[in-house]
Amino acid sequence: MRRLFPSPLTPADLEDREWGLDELADFYAYPEQAGVGGRAWLRANMVSSLDGAAHHEGRSQPLSSAADMRIFGTLRGLADAVVVGAETVRQEGYRPARAREAFAARRAALGQGPAPVIAVVSAGLDLDFSLPLFASPLVPTIVLTGAGAPAERAEAARASGAEVVVAGEGRGVDPARVPQVMAERGLTRLLTEGGPRLLGQFASARVLDEMCLSLAPVVATGTAPRIMSGPPLAVPERFALGSILEEEGFLFTSYRRI
Ligand SMILES: NC(=O)c1ccc[n+]([C@@H]2O[C@H](COP(=O)([O-])OP(=O)(O)OC[C@H]3O[C@@H](n4cnc5c(N)ncnc54)[C@H](OP(=O)(O)O)[C@@H]3O)[C@@H](O)[C@H]2O)c1
Repeated sequence: MRRLFPSPLTPADLEDREWGLDELADFYAYPEQAGVGGRAWLRANMVSSLDGAAHHEGRSQPLSSAADMRIFGTLRGLADAVVVGAETVRQEGYRPARAREAFAARRAALGQGPAPVIAVVSAGLDLDFSLPLFASPLVPTIVLTGAGAPAERAEAARASGAEVVVAGEGRGVDPARVPQVMAERGLTRLLTEGGPRLLGQFASARVLDEMCLSLAPVVATGTAPRIMSGPPLAVPERFALGSILEEEGFLFTSYRRI
């Protein structure tokens, strides 16, 4: 892995070498303003093909790489909570987040639990609550939904051990409310792993603070969506380049909302 931006500071930055998890964790540390004034910081992590596909045949794995997975794991290791759309949970067979030794001391120092909370966003709650994600996580999974979601499904979620959190007046979640609702639970370092429909809503609601985009050097074609699909913004919103790392032609970028 090579650091391309900000410009390399030391000869070690120029070298193409494997970065340790500690080094990656330092590089991707959440900004100090995460949590200040009760405001959560919402970071997204997605991978895209060169032609803009957000998945290949329903999975993101064919677009990913070992380095992408290391960064994915690091971003999880830094987060208080991972916010994810129900379709990604269903398609990718989400499991509970693991406690990883590499991040244990760092998490303890910040007062974080052993693993990030997974927060699943769903309106219909058509989820299998007997799965380990809900029934046996290290830290209870949150189900984010609307006040009008099916009551018996919300009850099934609670019965499995999940915490049901209402963040919308209708069936669904008001995406603009998610950072605040999570911050009220002390979860201020947020990571969303999509999918495109959920991420598009966060961006349209202007609550996406940071985009960590992995650009994979592959062409997928087909009809997969791009990494965000949601209501269009009247004026495209400007982000500033934060960083670029490179490994085997993959570009690991981060951008912050201005
Ligand atoms: N390239 C990447 O990095 C990446 C990352 C993640 C996912 N993916 C891929 O993306 C695909 C899935 O993405 P997707 O865009 O179809 O779905 P998604 O965003 O993961 O999930 C959509 C679902 O989330 C729930 N949802 C979304 N907005 C909501 C709201 N405001 N209120 C309540 N519930 C809401 C709904 O669940 P209910 O239907 O339960 O109501 C909706 O059907 C998968 O193929 C996955 O592999 C790629």
